[in-house]
Amino acid sequence: MQVELRPIEVRALELSDLDSIMAIEPRAYGSHHWSRQSFISELTNPSGHYLGAVCSRDSALLGYTGYWLIGDEAHITTLAVHPDCRRERVGERLLIANVLDARANGALWLTLEVRVSNEAAQGLYFKYGFRNLGVRRRYYQDNSEDALVLWTDRITDIGFAEQFAAKAAAMGDYSKKAIMKELLADKHQYIDNECEFSKLASA
Ligand SMILES: CC(C)(COP(=O)(O)OP(=O)(O)OC[C@H]1O[C@@H](n2cnc3c(N)ncnc32)[C@H](O)[C@@H]1OP(=O)(O)O)[C@@H](O)C(=O)NCCC(=O)NCCS
Repeated sequence: MQVELRPIEVRALELSDLDSIMAIEPRAYGSHHWSRQSFISELTNPSGHYLGAVCSRDSALLGYTGYWLIGDEAHITTLAVHPDCRRERVGERLLIANVLDARANGALWLTLEVRVSNEAAQGLYFKYGFRNLGVRRRYYQDNSEDALVLWTDRITDIGFAEQFAAKAAAMGDYSKKAIMKELLADKHQYIDNECEFSKLASA
């Protein structure tokens, strides 16, 4: 039986969200969290794209994510969920929104660094097709921890798109077809028939 998810909307983060962001940020990242000033810089950086997940009932900010678009690469800079609503698939829905937003803005690949000890985040990224393609030694200054460098495959590849869309659709509030359509937008002529995607994949 599918558990009903907390209804959320994902929208662009705004400077007016700063208080809500700063209520989450230290609880998500501890002593190495971004400052309020860092968020002001990020939210006004033309290369930065930031999204927030808000509760549809009371508009409370539950989490946020964002990336820098550099050429055709989207570098995920943050993804954080309020501790009171972890494991409710808010992180998952933010990651999906991030990938689709990056695609809409011209990205072909996504990448990020994640602490080697951060199994929760790694689980989320691996679930959605990110792969570990390297290690940055002593990347984090607070404790000299190594970072794994994760990458997607090309997100317009049919194999990636199918797997990504299938995972998202399994949650119950996304349509596989709609997600594939967004990822494959200008690569393949969209055919309104799911099995045609499989034909494309094996072609
Ligand atoms: C990582 C984080 C964003 C996950 O958010 P979340 O809303 O709790 O995660 P979701 O409920 O969407 O979980 C999605 C998937 O993530 C993985 N995951 C999430 N929390 C996990 C945990 N505590 N242990 C193992 N895997 C976990 C699982 O693969 C899960 O899928 P599954 O339930 O089908 O197994 C959240 O733990 C967080 O804010 N952490 C602190 C900030 C941080 O580390 N950000 C990442 C920086 S790279």
